[in-house]
Amino acid sequence: MPTHQLIAKVLKNNALNESITVKGWVRTKRANKNVAFIAINDGSSLQSLQIVAEVAKFEDVLRRVTTGACIAVEGLLVPSQGKEQAVEVLANHIAVLGEADPESYPLQKKAHSLEFLREVAHLRMRTNTFGAIFRIRHALSFAVHQYFNDRGFFYLHTPIITASDAEGAGQMFRVTTLDLEHVPKTAEGKVDYTQDFFGRSTNLTVSGQLEAELGALGLGLVYTFGPTFRAENSNTTRHLAEFWMIEPEMAFYDINDNMDLAEDFVKYLISYVLEHCPEDMQFLDERFAKEEATKKAEERSAMGLLQRLHFVTKHSFERITYSQAIEILLNSSYHKKGKFVFPVQWGMDLQSEHERYLVEKHFEKPVIITGYPKEIKAFYMKQNPDGRTVAAMDVLFPGIGEIIGGSQREENLEKLSQRMQEMHVPQDVLWWYLETRKFGTCPHSGFGLGFERMMLFITGMGNIRDVIPFPRTPKNAEF
Ligand code: 4AD
Ligand code: MG
Repeated sequence: MPTHQLIAKVLKNNALNESITVKGWVRTKRANKNVAFIAINDGSSLQSLQIVAEVAKFEDVLRRVTTGACIAVEGLLVPSQGKEQAVEVLANHIAVLGEADPESYPLQKKAHSLEFLREVAHLRMRTNTFGAIFRIRHALSFAVHQYFNDRGFFYLHTPIITASDAEGAGQMFRVTTLDLEHVPKTAEGKVDYTQDFFGRSTNLTVSGQLEAELGALGLGLVYTFGPTFRAENSNTTRHLAEFWMIEPEMAFYDINDNMDLAEDFVKYLISYVLEHCPEDMQFLDERFAKEEATKKAEERSAMGLLQRLHFVTKHSFERITYSQAIEILLNSSYHKKGKFVFPVQWGMDLQSEHERYLVEKHFEKPVIITGYPKEIKAFYMKQNPDGRTVAAMDVLFPGIGEIIGGSQREENLEKLSQRMQEMHVPQDVLWWYLETRKFGTCPHSGFGLGFERMMLFITGMGNIRDVIPFPRTPKNAEF
Protein backbone atom coordinates (compact mmCIF):
# COMPACT_ATOMS: atom_id res chain seq x y z
CA MET A 1 0.00 0.00 0.00
CA PRO A 2 1.24 3.51 -0.75
CA THR A 3 2.47 5.53 2.21
CA HIS A 4 0.96 8.83 1.09
CA GLN A 5 -2.46 9.95 2.29
CA LEU A 6 -5.43 11.29 0.38
CA ILE A 7 -6.00 14.98 1.01
CA ALA A 8 -9.67 14.32 1.78
CA LYS A 9 -8.56 12.01 4.63
CA VAL A 10 -5.89 14.40 5.87
CA LEU A 11 -8.42 17.24 6.12
CA LYS A 12 -10.94 15.04 7.86
CA ASN A 13 -8.59 13.37 10.35
CA ASN A 14 -6.71 16.54 11.27
CA ALA A 15 -3.92 14.53 12.91
CA LEU A 16 -1.95 17.61 13.95
CA ASN A 17 1.81 17.67 14.34
CA GLU A 18 2.29 14.35 12.63
CA SER A 19 4.51 13.84 9.65
CA ILE A 20 2.54 13.00 6.51
CA THR A 21 3.15 12.49 2.80
CA VAL A 22 0.71 13.83 0.19
CA LYS A 23 0.84 13.83 -3.60
CA GLY A 24 -1.10 15.92 -6.06
CA TRP A 25 -1.19 18.57 -8.78
CA VAL A 26 -0.26 22.15 -8.13
CA ARG A 27 -3.17 24.53 -8.44
CA THR A 28 -1.42 27.72 -7.40
CA LYS A 29 1.88 28.90 -6.02
CA ARG A 30 2.66 32.27 -4.52
CA ALA A 31 5.74 33.32 -2.63
CA ASN A 32 7.31 36.14 -0.72
CA LYS A 33 10.99 36.49 0.15
CA ASN A 34 10.88 33.85 2.83
CA VAL A 35 8.13 31.32 2.15
CA ALA A 36 6.21 29.86 -0.74
CA PHE A 37 2.56 28.76 -0.46
CA ILE A 38 1.62 25.91 -2.76
CA ALA A 39 -1.97 24.66 -3.09
CA ILE A 40 -2.10 21.05 -4.20
CA ASN A 41 -5.16 19.01 -5.11
CA ASP A 42 -5.25 15.24 -5.57
CA GLY A 43 -8.87 14.89 -6.69
CA SER A 44 -10.02 13.27 -3.46
CA SER A 45 -11.85 16.42 -2.43
CA LEU A 46 -12.78 19.87 -3.60
CA GLN A 47 -10.37 21.29 -1.05
CA SER A 48 -6.74 21.77 -1.89
CA LEU A 49 -4.07 21.42 0.77
CA GLN A 50 -1.71 24.31 1.46
CA ILE A 51 1.98 23.48 1.53
CA VAL A 52 4.31 25.98 3.15
CA ALA A 53 7.93 25.80 1.93
CA GLU A 54 10.91 27.88 3.02
CA VAL A 55 12.31 29.58 -0.04
CA ALA A 56 15.90 29.32 1.11
CA LYS A 57 15.64 25.58 1.63
CA PHE A 58 13.69 24.69 -1.54
CA GLU A 59 14.87 27.34 -3.99
CA ASP A 60 15.84 24.88 -6.75
CA VAL A 61 12.84 22.63 -6.52
CA LEU A 62 10.41 25.57 -6.23
CA ARG A 63 11.38 26.75 -9.69
CA ARG A 64 9.91 23.55 -11.06
CA VAL A 65 6.78 23.73 -8.88
CA THR A 66 4.41 25.50 -11.27
CA THR A 67 0.66 25.29 -11.90
CA GLY A 68 -0.14 21.83 -13.24
CA ALA A 69 3.02 20.12 -12.02
CA CYS A 70 2.67 16.96 -9.96
CA ILE A 71 4.52 16.89 -6.65
CA ALA A 72 5.02 14.72 -3.59
CA VAL A 73 5.44 16.43 -0.25
CA GLU A 74 6.51 15.12 3.12
CA GLY A 75 6.05 17.40 6.08
CA LEU A 76 4.37 18.25 9.34
CA LEU A 77 0.61 18.89 9.46
CA VAL A 78 0.08 22.02 11.56
CA PRO A 79 -2.69 24.53 12.29
CA SER A 80 -2.63 27.16 9.57
CA GLN A 81 -1.55 30.74 10.23
CA GLY A 82 -3.85 31.91 7.44
CA LYS A 83 -7.64 32.35 7.54
CA GLU A 84 -8.37 30.41 4.35
CA GLN A 85 -7.69 26.96 5.76
CA ALA A 86 -7.60 25.18 9.12
CA VAL A 87 -4.42 23.21 8.52
CA GLU A 88 -1.34 23.28 6.32
CA VAL A 89 1.79 21.23 5.75
CA LEU A 90 5.25 22.55 6.62
CA ALA A 91 7.32 20.96 3.89
CA ASN A 92 10.28 18.89 4.91
CA HIS A 93 10.83 17.32 1.53
CA ILE A 94 9.40 18.12 -1.92
CA ALA A 95 9.83 15.97 -5.02
CA VAL A 96 8.61 16.99 -8.45
CA LEU A 97 7.07 13.90 -10.03
CA GLY A 98 6.05 15.64 -13.24
CA GLU A 99 6.78 19.15 -14.42
CA ALA A 100 4.26 21.25 -16.39
CA ASP A 101 5.71 23.86 -18.68
CA PRO A 102 3.96 27.10 -17.62
CA GLU A 103 4.11 28.43 -21.18
CA SER A 104 2.06 25.63 -22.66
CA TYR A 105 -0.02 24.19 -19.78
CA PRO A 106 -3.61 24.92 -20.88
CA LEU A 107 -5.17 25.36 -17.43
CA GLN A 108 -4.18 28.68 -16.01
CA LYS A 109 -5.26 30.16 -12.73
CA LYS A 110 -8.08 32.17 -14.33
CA ALA A 111 -11.53 30.67 -14.87
CA HIS A 112 -11.93 28.92 -18.21
CA SER A 113 -15.15 28.57 -20.20
CA LEU A 114 -16.85 25.17 -20.32
CA GLU A 115 -16.48 25.22 -24.10
CA PHE A 116 -12.72 25.60 -23.78
CA LEU A 117 -12.54 22.89 -21.13
CA ARG A 118 -14.37 20.48 -23.47
CA GLU A 119 -11.46 20.88 -25.88
CA VAL A 120 -9.04 19.89 -23.13
CA ALA A 121 -11.17 17.09 -21.70
CA HIS A 122 -7.96 15.15 -21.02
CA LEU A 123 -7.09 17.76 -18.38
CA ARG A 124 -10.43 19.18 -17.27
CA MET A 125 -10.74 16.75 -14.34
CA ARG A 126 -8.09 18.89 -12.68
CA THR A 127 -10.51 21.79 -12.28
CA ASN A 128 -12.81 22.38 -9.30
CA THR A 129 -15.96 22.12 -11.42
CA PHE A 130 -15.12 18.82 -13.12
CA GLY A 131 -13.63 17.36 -9.97
CA ALA A 132 -16.97 18.01 -8.26
CA ILE A 133 -18.97 16.66 -11.21
CA PHE A 134 -17.11 13.39 -11.51
CA ARG A 135 -17.07 12.75 -7.78
CA ILE A 136 -20.84 13.23 -7.85
CA ARG A 137 -21.13 10.98 -10.89
CA HIS A 138 -19.42 8.27 -8.91
CA ALA A 139 -21.70 8.77 -5.90
CA LEU A 140 -24.76 8.71 -8.13
CA SER A 141 -23.71 5.41 -9.75
CA PHE A 142 -23.14 3.96 -6.34
CA ALA A 143 -26.57 5.15 -5.22
CA VAL A 144 -28.22 3.37 -8.16
CA HIS A 145 -26.77 0.03 -7.08
CA GLN A 146 -27.49 0.72 -3.40
CA TYR A 147 -31.13 1.49 -4.12
CA PHE A 148 -31.83 -1.65 -6.09
CA ASN A 149 -29.71 -3.93 -3.95
CA ASP A 150 -31.61 -2.80 -0.84
CA ARG A 151 -34.91 -3.67 -2.54
CA GLY A 152 -34.13 -7.16 -3.81
CA PHE A 153 -33.34 -6.30 -7.44
CA PHE A 154 -30.61 -8.16 -9.33
CA TYR A 155 -28.12 -6.32 -11.54
CA LEU A 156 -28.35 -7.93 -14.97
CA HIS A 157 -25.67 -7.36 -17.62
CA THR A 158 -27.44 -7.12 -20.94
CA PRO A 159 -25.50 -7.32 -24.21
CA ILE A 160 -23.94 -4.31 -25.87
CA ILE A 161 -23.88 -5.96 -29.30
CA THR A 162 -27.31 -7.08 -30.46
CA ALA A 163 -29.15 -8.08 -33.62
CA SER A 164 -32.37 -6.30 -32.64
CA ASP A 165 -33.65 -2.73 -32.47
CA ALA A 166 -35.36 -2.57 -29.06
CA GLU A 167 -36.95 0.83 -29.63
CA GLY A 168 -37.81 0.19 -33.29
CA ALA A 169 -36.52 3.65 -34.13
CA GLY A 170 -33.66 2.54 -36.37
CA GLN A 171 -31.08 4.86 -34.81
CA MET A 172 -28.34 2.26 -34.53
CA PHE A 173 -24.60 2.06 -34.96
CA ARG A 174 -23.66 -0.94 -37.05
CA VAL A 175 -21.12 -3.43 -35.69
CA THR A 176 -19.22 -5.24 -38.39
CA THR A 177 -15.88 -6.79 -39.27
CA LEU A 178 -16.67 -6.78 -43.00
CA ASP A 179 -14.06 -5.07 -45.14
CA LEU A 180 -15.82 -1.85 -46.13
CA GLU A 181 -13.62 -1.57 -49.23
CA HIS A 182 -14.78 -4.99 -50.46
CA VAL A 183 -18.24 -5.66 -49.10
CA PRO A 184 -19.43 -9.20 -49.92
CA LYS A 185 -22.74 -9.27 -51.81
CA THR A 186 -25.50 -11.83 -52.19
CA ALA A 187 -26.81 -12.97 -55.58
CA GLU A 188 -29.44 -10.21 -55.27
CA GLY A 189 -26.75 -7.57 -54.81
CA LYS A 190 -27.43 -6.98 -51.09
CA VAL A 191 -24.74 -6.98 -48.39
CA ASP A 192 -24.05 -10.58 -47.41
CA TYR A 193 -24.12 -10.48 -43.64
CA THR A 194 -23.76 -14.24 -43.39
CA GLN A 195 -20.07 -13.51 -43.96
CA ASP A 196 -19.96 -10.98 -41.12
CA PHE A 197 -18.52 -11.82 -37.69
CA PHE A 198 -21.81 -12.97 -36.16
CA GLY A 199 -23.16 -14.37 -39.42
CA ARG A 200 -25.84 -11.69 -39.36
CA SER A 201 -26.31 -7.94 -39.19
CA THR A 202 -25.58 -6.54 -35.72
CA ASN A 203 -25.55 -3.16 -33.99
CA LEU A 204 -24.78 -1.45 -30.69
CA THR A 205 -27.70 -1.65 -28.29
CA VAL A 206 -30.17 1.24 -28.02
CA SER A 207 -31.65 -0.27 -24.83
CA GLY A 208 -31.21 -3.33 -22.62
CA GLN A 209 -34.93 -3.54 -22.04
CA LEU A 210 -35.86 -6.56 -24.13
CA GLU A 211 -33.22 -8.71 -22.41
CA ALA A 212 -34.13 -7.17 -19.03
CA GLU A 213 -37.68 -8.40 -19.63
CA LEU A 214 -36.34 -11.94 -20.09
CA GLY A 215 -34.55 -11.48 -16.77
CA ALA A 216 -37.64 -10.17 -14.96
CA LEU A 217 -39.69 -13.13 -16.17
CA GLY A 218 -37.41 -15.48 -14.27
CA LEU A 219 -35.62 -13.46 -11.61
CA GLY A 220 -38.56 -11.22 -10.77
CA LEU A 221 -36.85 -7.89 -10.13
CA VAL A 222 -33.84 -6.88 -12.24
CA TYR A 223 -32.10 -3.76 -13.45
CA THR A 224 -29.50 -2.94 -16.04
CA PHE A 225 -27.05 -0.05 -15.88
CA GLY A 226 -24.85 0.23 -18.91
CA PRO A 227 -23.74 2.13 -21.98
CA THR A 228 -26.41 2.76 -24.58
CA PHE A 229 -25.93 4.01 -28.11
CA ARG A 230 -28.10 6.11 -30.38
CA ALA A 231 -27.11 7.31 -33.81
CA GLU A 232 -29.66 10.11 -33.81
CA ASN A 233 -28.20 13.23 -35.33
CA SER A 234 -29.40 15.53 -32.54
CA ASN A 235 -26.82 18.12 -31.63
CA THR A 236 -28.61 19.32 -28.52
CA THR A 237 -27.58 19.94 -24.92
CA ARG A 238 -29.63 16.85 -23.89
CA HIS A 239 -28.44 14.18 -26.34
CA LEU A 240 -25.37 11.97 -26.48
CA ALA A 241 -24.59 9.26 -29.02
CA GLU A 242 -23.21 7.17 -26.14
CA PHE A 243 -24.95 7.53 -22.80
CA TRP A 244 -25.66 5.41 -19.75
CA MET A 245 -29.12 4.15 -18.98
CA ILE A 246 -30.59 2.46 -15.92
CA GLU A 247 -33.44 0.10 -16.76
CA PRO A 248 -35.31 -1.67 -13.98
CA GLU A 249 -37.79 -4.33 -15.07
CA MET A 250 -40.32 -5.77 -12.64
CA ALA A 251 -42.56 -8.84 -12.87
CA PHE A 252 -46.08 -8.27 -11.50
CA TYR A 253 -45.82 -4.45 -11.54
CA ASP A 254 -48.51 -2.49 -13.36
CA ILE A 255 -48.16 1.06 -14.68
CA ASN A 256 -49.05 2.59 -11.29
CA ASP A 257 -46.47 0.48 -9.45
CA ASN A 258 -44.04 1.53 -12.16
CA MET A 259 -44.71 5.23 -11.56
CA ASP A 260 -44.39 4.81 -7.80
CA LEU A 261 -41.02 3.12 -8.21
CA ALA A 262 -39.74 5.75 -10.67
CA GLU A 263 -40.69 8.60 -8.36
CA ASP A 264 -39.24 6.95 -5.27
CA PHE A 265 -36.04 6.05 -7.15
CA VAL A 266 -35.22 9.54 -8.44
CA LYS A 267 -36.02 11.09 -5.07
CA TYR A 268 -33.67 8.61 -3.43
CA LEU A 269 -30.90 9.43 -5.92
CA ILE A 270 -31.20 13.16 -5.24
CA SER A 271 -31.26 12.66 -1.46
CA TYR A 272 -28.26 10.35 -1.64
CA VAL A 273 -26.11 12.91 -3.43
CA LEU A 274 -27.25 15.73 -1.13
CA GLU A 275 -26.27 13.61 1.85
CA HIS A 276 -22.98 12.20 0.54
CA CYS A 277 -21.54 15.11 -1.49
CA PRO A 278 -22.39 18.22 0.54
CA GLU A 279 -19.19 20.11 -0.24
CA ASP A 280 -19.28 19.49 -4.00
CA MET A 281 -23.00 20.30 -4.09
CA GLN A 282 -22.44 23.55 -2.21
CA PHE A 283 -19.80 24.47 -4.76
CA LEU A 284 -22.14 23.68 -7.68
CA ASP A 285 -24.96 25.60 -6.02
CA GLU A 286 -22.77 28.72 -5.99
CA ARG A 287 -21.68 28.06 -9.56
CA PHE A 288 -25.32 27.71 -10.62
CA ALA A 289 -26.24 31.01 -8.93
CA LYS A 290 -23.43 32.83 -10.76
CA GLU A 291 -24.50 31.30 -14.08
CA GLU A 292 -28.14 32.22 -13.54
CA ALA A 293 -27.19 35.80 -12.73
CA THR A 294 -25.87 36.19 -16.28
CA LYS A 295 -29.24 35.18 -17.80
CA LYS A 296 -32.20 37.33 -18.75
CA ALA A 297 -34.80 37.57 -15.98
CA GLU A 298 -37.41 35.47 -17.81
CA GLU A 299 -34.90 32.67 -18.48
CA ARG A 300 -33.74 32.43 -14.91
CA SER A 301 -34.63 29.38 -12.82
CA ALA A 302 -37.20 30.17 -10.14
CA MET A 303 -35.09 28.37 -7.55
CA GLY A 304 -31.45 27.88 -6.68
CA LEU A 305 -29.92 24.48 -7.33
CA LEU A 306 -30.05 23.07 -3.80
CA GLN A 307 -33.43 24.66 -3.23
CA ARG A 308 -34.80 22.97 -6.35
CA LEU A 309 -33.38 19.57 -5.38
CA HIS A 310 -34.88 19.77 -1.90
CA PHE A 311 -38.16 20.90 -3.42
CA VAL A 312 -38.29 17.87 -5.73
CA THR A 313 -37.58 15.39 -2.94
CA LYS A 314 -40.31 16.91 -0.75
CA HIS A 315 -43.23 17.19 -3.17
CA SER A 316 -45.12 14.47 -4.98
CA PHE A 317 -44.91 14.50 -8.76
CA GLU A 318 -47.95 15.56 -10.74
CA ARG A 319 -49.54 12.64 -12.63
CA ILE A 320 -51.65 13.37 -15.71
CA THR A 321 -52.67 11.61 -18.90
CA TYR A 322 -51.46 12.63 -22.33
CA SER A 323 -55.00 13.78 -23.18
CA GLN A 324 -55.04 16.04 -20.12
CA ALA A 325 -51.63 17.41 -21.11
CA ILE A 326 -52.92 18.30 -24.57
CA GLU A 327 -55.95 19.96 -22.98
CA ILE A 328 -53.72 22.09 -20.72
CA LEU A 329 -51.49 23.07 -23.63
CA LEU A 330 -54.45 24.01 -25.83
CA ASN A 331 -55.84 26.21 -23.05
CA SER A 332 -52.50 27.85 -22.32
CA SER A 333 -51.75 31.47 -23.06
CA TYR A 334 -48.61 30.23 -24.82
CA HIS A 335 -50.72 28.36 -27.34
CA LYS A 336 -53.18 31.19 -27.73
CA LYS A 337 -50.40 33.69 -28.34
CA GLY A 338 -48.74 31.33 -30.83
CA LYS A 339 -45.60 30.96 -28.72
CA PHE A 340 -45.13 27.24 -29.42
CA VAL A 341 -43.07 26.44 -32.51
CA PHE A 342 -44.77 23.05 -32.94
CA PRO A 343 -48.59 23.31 -33.11
CA VAL A 344 -50.50 21.44 -30.41
CA GLN A 345 -52.95 18.71 -31.34
CA TRP A 346 -53.93 15.28 -30.01
CA GLY A 347 -51.72 12.62 -31.54
CA MET A 348 -48.54 14.66 -31.82
CA ASP A 349 -45.35 13.77 -30.00
CA LEU A 350 -44.81 16.28 -27.20
CA GLN A 351 -41.85 18.50 -28.06
CA SER A 352 -39.41 19.72 -25.50
CA GLU A 353 -41.09 23.17 -25.51
CA HIS A 354 -44.42 21.55 -24.52
CA GLU A 355 -42.86 19.39 -21.85
CA ARG A 356 -41.05 22.34 -20.35
CA TYR A 357 -44.19 24.47 -20.40
CA LEU A 358 -46.06 21.82 -18.41
CA VAL A 359 -43.27 21.33 -15.90
CA GLU A 360 -41.84 24.82 -15.54
CA LYS A 361 -44.83 27.09 -16.15
CA HIS A 362 -47.99 25.13 -15.44
CA PHE A 363 -47.26 22.69 -12.60
CA GLU A 364 -43.87 24.02 -11.45
CA LYS A 365 -42.79 20.53 -10.42
CA PRO A 366 -41.97 17.16 -12.00
CA VAL A 367 -44.79 15.64 -14.02
CA ILE A 368 -45.51 12.05 -15.04
CA ILE A 369 -47.54 11.70 -18.22
CA THR A 370 -49.29 8.41 -19.04
CA GLY A 371 -51.57 7.08 -21.76
CA TYR A 372 -49.77 8.24 -24.90
CA PRO A 373 -51.17 7.60 -28.39
CA LYS A 374 -49.91 4.19 -29.49
CA GLU A 375 -48.65 5.60 -32.83
CA ILE A 376 -45.89 7.61 -31.17
CA LYS A 377 -44.67 4.88 -28.80
CA ALA A 378 -42.73 1.61 -29.09
CA PHE A 379 -44.30 -1.71 -30.10
CA TYR A 380 -43.88 -3.39 -26.71
CA MET A 381 -46.13 -1.09 -24.68
CA LYS A 382 -49.35 -2.43 -23.20
CA GLN A 383 -52.36 -1.42 -25.24
CA ASN A 384 -55.10 0.31 -23.28
CA PRO A 385 -58.75 -0.80 -23.63
CA ASP A 386 -59.57 2.43 -25.53
CA GLY A 387 -57.71 0.98 -28.52
CA ARG A 388 -55.76 4.19 -29.18
CA THR A 389 -53.45 4.75 -26.22
CA VAL A 390 -50.79 2.67 -24.48
CA ALA A 391 -49.71 2.34 -20.81
CA ALA A 392 -46.62 4.47 -21.34
CA MET A 393 -45.14 6.88 -18.82
CA ASP A 394 -42.68 9.71 -19.27
CA VAL A 395 -41.25 11.55 -16.28
CA LEU A 396 -40.56 15.20 -17.07
CA PHE A 397 -38.18 17.39 -15.04
CA PRO A 398 -37.70 21.14 -14.87
CA GLY A 399 -34.87 22.37 -17.07
CA ILE A 400 -34.48 18.92 -18.62
CA GLY A 401 -37.75 17.71 -20.09
CA GLU A 402 -37.93 13.91 -20.37
CA ILE A 403 -35.70 12.18 -17.85
CA ILE A 404 -37.45 8.78 -17.75
CA GLY A 405 -39.37 6.81 -20.36
CA GLY A 406 -41.16 3.60 -19.44
CA SER A 407 -44.30 1.53 -19.67
CA GLN A 408 -46.25 -1.49 -18.66
CA ARG A 409 -45.41 -4.14 -21.27
CA GLU A 410 -47.85 -5.92 -23.55
CA GLU A 411 -47.95 -9.41 -22.08
CA ASN A 412 -50.59 -10.80 -24.44
CA LEU A 413 -48.93 -12.76 -27.27
CA GLU A 414 -51.63 -12.09 -29.84
CA LYS A 415 -51.83 -8.36 -29.21
CA LEU A 416 -48.05 -8.02 -29.15
CA SER A 417 -47.56 -9.94 -32.36
CA GLN A 418 -50.35 -7.95 -34.05
CA ARG A 419 -48.71 -4.66 -33.04
CA MET A 420 -45.30 -5.82 -34.24
CA GLN A 421 -46.81 -6.65 -37.59
CA GLU A 422 -48.46 -3.22 -37.84
CA MET A 423 -45.20 -1.50 -36.96
CA HIS A 424 -43.01 -3.71 -39.18
CA VAL A 425 -40.95 -5.02 -36.27
CA PRO A 426 -39.38 -8.29 -37.45
CA GLN A 427 -40.87 -11.13 -35.41
CA ASP A 428 -38.36 -13.72 -36.61
CA VAL A 429 -35.46 -11.75 -35.11
CA LEU A 430 -37.36 -11.36 -31.82
CA TRP A 431 -38.69 -14.95 -31.59
CA TRP A 432 -37.16 -15.28 -28.12
CA TYR A 433 -38.93 -12.15 -26.90
CA LEU A 434 -42.25 -13.47 -28.14
CA GLU A 435 -41.69 -16.82 -26.40
CA THR A 436 -41.86 -15.14 -22.98
CA ARG A 437 -45.47 -14.30 -23.87
CA LYS A 438 -46.04 -17.88 -25.01
CA PHE A 439 -44.64 -19.54 -21.89
CA GLY A 440 -45.73 -18.23 -18.50
CA THR A 441 -46.39 -14.64 -19.46
CA CYS A 442 -47.39 -12.15 -16.75
CA PRO A 443 -48.03 -8.44 -16.26
CA HIS A 444 -44.74 -6.60 -15.96
CA SER A 445 -43.35 -3.10 -16.26
CA GLY A 446 -40.14 -1.14 -16.41
CA PHE A 447 -38.53 2.15 -17.30
CA GLY A 448 -35.30 3.74 -18.43
CA LEU A 449 -33.60 6.60 -16.62
CA GLY A 450 -31.02 8.55 -18.63
CA PHE A 451 -28.08 8.69 -16.24
CA GLU A 452 -26.58 11.86 -17.74
CA ARG A 453 -29.93 13.65 -17.70
CA MET A 454 -30.14 12.85 -13.99
CA MET A 455 -26.60 14.19 -13.63
CA LEU A 456 -27.65 17.39 -15.42
CA PHE A 457 -30.51 17.90 -13.01
CA ILE A 458 -28.47 17.21 -9.89
CA THR A 459 -25.40 19.25 -10.86
CA GLY A 460 -27.29 22.12 -12.49
CA MET A 461 -24.98 21.96 -15.50
CA GLY A 462 -26.50 23.15 -18.77
CA ASN A 463 -24.88 20.82 -21.29
CA ILE A 464 -24.86 17.03 -21.25
CA ARG A 465 -21.29 17.07 -22.64
CA ASP A 466 -20.16 18.37 -19.25
CA VAL A 467 -21.46 15.53 -17.08
CA ILE A 468 -19.81 12.56 -18.85
CA PRO A 469 -16.01 12.31 -18.88
CA PHE A 470 -15.56 11.88 -22.62
CA PRO A 471 -18.70 12.79 -24.58
CA ARG A 472 -19.62 11.17 -27.88
CA THR A 473 -21.71 13.41 -30.11
CA PRO A 474 -22.04 13.82 -33.90
CA LYS A 475 -18.60 14.56 -35.40
CA ASN A 476 -16.94 14.31 -32.02
CA ALA A 477 -15.10 11.27 -30.68
CA GLU A 478 -11.85 12.80 -29.49
CA PHE A 479 -10.21 11.36 -26.38
O1 4AD B 1 -37.43 6.91 -23.60
P1 4AD B 1 -36.33 5.95 -24.01
O2 4AD B 1 -35.97 5.88 -25.43
O3 4AD B 1 -36.80 4.56 -23.43
C1 4AD B 1 -36.19 3.35 -23.64
O4 4AD B 1 -35.14 3.19 -24.19
C2 4AD B 1 -36.92 2.22 -22.96
N1 4AD B 1 -36.41 0.96 -23.52
C3 4AD B 1 -36.72 2.31 -21.47
C4 4AD B 1 -37.41 1.18 -20.73
O5 4AD B 1 -38.63 1.20 -20.64
N2 4AD B 1 -36.69 0.24 -20.20
O6 4AD B 1 -35.01 6.32 -23.18
C5 4AD B 1 -35.04 6.35 -21.77
C6 4AD B 1 -34.29 7.56 -21.25
C7 4AD B 1 -34.85 8.90 -21.71
O7 4AD B 1 -35.94 9.29 -20.93
C8 4AD B 1 -33.66 9.80 -21.53
O8 4AD B 1 -33.51 10.20 -20.18
C9 4AD B 1 -32.51 8.90 -21.88
O9 4AD B 1 -32.95 7.57 -21.74
N3 4AD B 1 -32.04 9.12 -23.26
C10 4AD B 1 -30.93 9.79 -23.59
N4 4AD B 1 -30.00 10.40 -22.83
C11 4AD B 1 -28.96 10.99 -23.48
N5 4AD B 1 -28.80 11.00 -24.81
C12 4AD B 1 -29.72 10.39 -25.62
N6 4AD B 1 -29.54 10.38 -26.94
C13 4AD B 1 -30.83 9.75 -25.01
N7 4AD B 1 -31.90 9.06 -25.49
C14 4AD B 1 -32.61 8.69 -24.41
MG1 MG C 1 -38.61 8.36 -24.47
